[in-house]
Amino acid sequence: MEIDLEKLARQARNNAIAPFSNFQVGAALLTTDGIVFTGCNIENATFGLTVCAERVALFKAISEGKREFKKITIVTDSSKLSLPCGACRQLLWEFCGDIEVEIVNLQGGVAFKRVKELLPLPFDKSNFFEPGDK
Ligand code: THU
Repeated sequence: MEIDLEKLARQARNNAIAPFSNFQVGAALLTTDGIVFTGCNIENATFGLTVCAERVALFKAISEGKREFKKITIVTDSSKLSLPCGACRQLLWEFCGDIEVEIVNLQGGVAFKRVKELLPLPFDKSNFFEPGDK
């Protein structure tokens, strides 16, 4: 049976702590061995310490020893579909590689991206270049 990542991300979103932005996000990250780690965004009074839903899911998975990932589903309540922030794109690239990114809203909208598409030139040694190149 196919794992319902959208449902899991939606459930995680209900745990979001977002009193400052009022923008609740849920994420469900699927490992290659079929385990799901969920996350929600967590804001706090110093704003800058906010952690996005994607990173919570990713760090939970990493701290449980997971290193190989297949897909992440992200749910928001935005009529226009919203994309992961730059910091999350970098971490998804570093720890997950070019996985599928499914973006969903509560209105039934859905879109599929890949990490490489969202972050074509990440901070990565393979992108270092000599002055004058590129
Ligand atoms: N946020 C996420 O959790 N994931 C995203 O992809 C974008 C933004 C959170 C951070 C903050 O709590 C709120 O959404 C508004 O930026």
